Amino acid sequence: MTELTFTKIRAEWAEVLEHIEHSSFPTADRADLYQVDELRSLAEDFPEGTVVVLDGDTPVAMGLGIRINFDFSQTQHSVRDMMGADGGSGHVADGDWYYGTSIAVLPQYRRQGIGRKLYDMRKQICHDLDLAGIVAGGVIPGYADHIDEMSAADYVNKVAAGELYDPTLTMQIANGFEARGVIADYIRDPAVGSWASLIVWNNPDYSGRQT
Ligand SMILES: CC(C)(COP(=O)(O)OP(=O)(O)OC[C@H]1O[C@@H](n2cnc3c(N)ncnc32)[C@H](O)[C@@H]1OP(=O)(O)O)[C@@H](O)C(=O)NCCC(=O)NCCS
Repeated sequence: MTELTFTKIRAEWAEVLEHIEHSSFPTADRADLYQVDELRSLAEDFPEGTVVVLDGDTPVAMGLGIRINFDFSQTQHSVRDMMGADGGSGHVADGDWYYGTSIAVLPQYRRQGIGRKLYDMRKQICHDLDLAGIVAGGVIPGYADHIDEMSAADYVNKVAAGELYDPTLTMQIANGFEARGVIADYIRDPAVGSWASLIVWNNPDYSGRQT
């Protein structure tokens, strides 16, 4: 493996980034995942909010997101509600929260610290742009093994308490995120009943008011 570099999204990488997205969420409905045209729109609208990891010249991982206004009294939403359905990015230029639309590392590049670095870089983006923090729907792939035993809310509580391990949520909590309950029908994914967790990180240096 050559040295990894970290840079911003470019429209010319849309196809390979779509491949990273689709191979990272293999049981999810593709219609709920990033498509090439949306990745091109994101490269146009908010490149400074993105990170693409290159091995040589080839993208192997990405951390993508948009600015939004988020109503914490109405947390139920789908990823499509945020990204839109018109091929756009969903980016709201004066939104005060960073909404994490995707963090994805190609399977053969995992467990080397890339994911942690992507979460750290997202936090840095919030500092640099003076955003309130990060909010996202977090997929809970480990729930597939418990779906017949417990509700998604119980599962998320047990992962947050450290009683169960989830390949994604455990790592997000270890990176300073708080699990604030569950979201129904976030990304259509029969393996987990389409459940996700709502994860939030507050920017301690934000100059405005947080929830
Ligand atoms: C979740 C995801 C982004 C993590 O990416 P990653 O690059 O593997 O993340 P990291 O390497 O920073 O950390 C993952 C684990 O590897 C461990 N690790 C990091 N460096 C390591 C090393 N050198 N040797 C062994 N383990 C290591 C970390 O401690 C962490 O362990 P944990 O899961 O027990 O906490 C990746 O698994 C992925 O793309 N999953 C599918 C998509 C997804 O779920 N995205 C999340 C957005 S909802």
